[in-house]
Amino acid sequence: MEPFDIFDPSFRADPYPAYARYRAADPVHRGRPPTPGEHTTGWWYIFRYDDVAAILKDSRFGRSFAPALDAPPPPVPPEEREPFWDMYARWTLALEPPEHTCQRALLSRAFTARVVEGLRPKIAARAAELLASLVPRGKIDVVADYAFPLALSVVADLIGIPRRDLDRVKAWSQTIADVLDYKPTWDVMAAGNRMALEFAAYLRPIIEERRKYPTDDLISRLTAAAGEKMDEEELVALCVMLLFAGHETTVSLISSGAYLLLEHPDQLKRFRALPELSDVAIDEILRLHSPIQATTRIAYADVEIGGRLIRRGESATLLLGSANRDPAVFADPDRLDITRRPNRHLAFGRGIHYCLGAPLAMAQGGIALRALFDHTEDWRLAGAPVWSETFGFRGLKSWEIHAPARQR
Ligand code: HEM
Repeated sequence: MEPFDIFDPSFRADPYPAYARYRAADPVHRGRPPTPGEHTTGWWYIFRYDDVAAILKDSRFGRSFAPALDAPPPPVPPEEREPFWDMYARWTLALEPPEHTCQRALLSRAFTARVVEGLRPKIAARAAELLASLVPRGKIDVVADYAFPLALSVVADLIGIPRRDLDRVKAWSQTIADVLDYKPTWDVMAAGNRMALEFAAYLRPIIEERRKYPTDDLISRLTAAAGEKMDEEELVALCVMLLFAGHETTVSLISSGAYLLLEHPDQLKRFRALPELSDVAIDEILRLHSPIQATTRIAYADVEIGGRLIRRGESATLLLGSANRDPAVFADPDRLDITRRPNRHLAFGRGIHYCLGAPLAMAQGGIALRALFDHTEDWRLAGAPVWSETFGFRGLKSWEIHAPARQR
């Protein structure tokens, strides 16, 4: 079998055949680390659903190297500190309990079902506003013209970032995606460090202002709820995390959903006919085209997975995109079935780091696709889809569709 190489462009273009081969022949695969000199003694790739789900729920695996080391790592001299990783280390996703539990509890209040319900009319209004301006153009890029402005403005409004600044936020987020995409180059890392400093400098005055003059946005609520418990750097890091996590993946969900439905007219017909199917359909889109294809855990003890021993300190890349097409769990796994039930996909992860924004993402995906397909009768494909070159985050980079002339 050919080696599993996450840098091979043909793998990135279509990872699913390689996933299928490894799921069958070598589901707990010892590979090579994505970055030479990676801070680990071994690197594993996990392909099967049951193994991925088990690791996500297992407290013998976690997000940080520290618990796997015999002694605390030596402090990094100030001149060698990387602003990007300093910021990332404060993200909920990077924390372990008990810090993780505290921060997550604070954030959870901002993402309750009630908050998401309250956002629905705003999301629908924004989608309608965008479509009204786009349809007369005839041809639109679903990613750049629709999914991005919609997802980014929704999360920016929620957090309290002015819409006029969204182009900058979009560029900073792209840099974050590049750095987090397994094996950043020196140039990408340097851009990441610059971005961390610029993003923080942009956010500090906004946070300061909301501390003095609170409104009903998330920054105001977080500063009030955090009180003295959270310093400014932590608040900055949380805002960056939410702005990034809150739109990159949702853009992929909306654009992949549009693509899958237009490619499968029978499924689109059912989607249109059955509005109550929205959540079930969105789950299926997330399963088939998972916006986050992979996440990593470090073993804090020697653990046997699928008959192989993962040793303390070794890393495991959990291939969510492969788990979600595992035939042991999903019948006919490569087929789109927007009525598939049950559908216990892992696109939002599982365990203590389960996606906090899942209800918001589901709501946005459903509203965005329904608005797109209700607005005109038959959008048509205008060009081949262009997929992003990244591996961990997978989605369309651009994809054009036509609105029929008579409805413009
Ligand atoms: C389709 C859209 C989305 C997908 C596929 C997605 C996927 C995920 C996944 C897989 C994880 C867990 C990663 C791991 O365990 O290593 C996660 C965590 C997280 N997501 Fe999402 N996400 C989406 C949308 C959102 C949105 C809209 C927000 C917020 C506005 C958000 C905020 C977060 C946060 C804060 C975490 C970390 C939770 C923790 O560490 O406890 N996500 N997401």
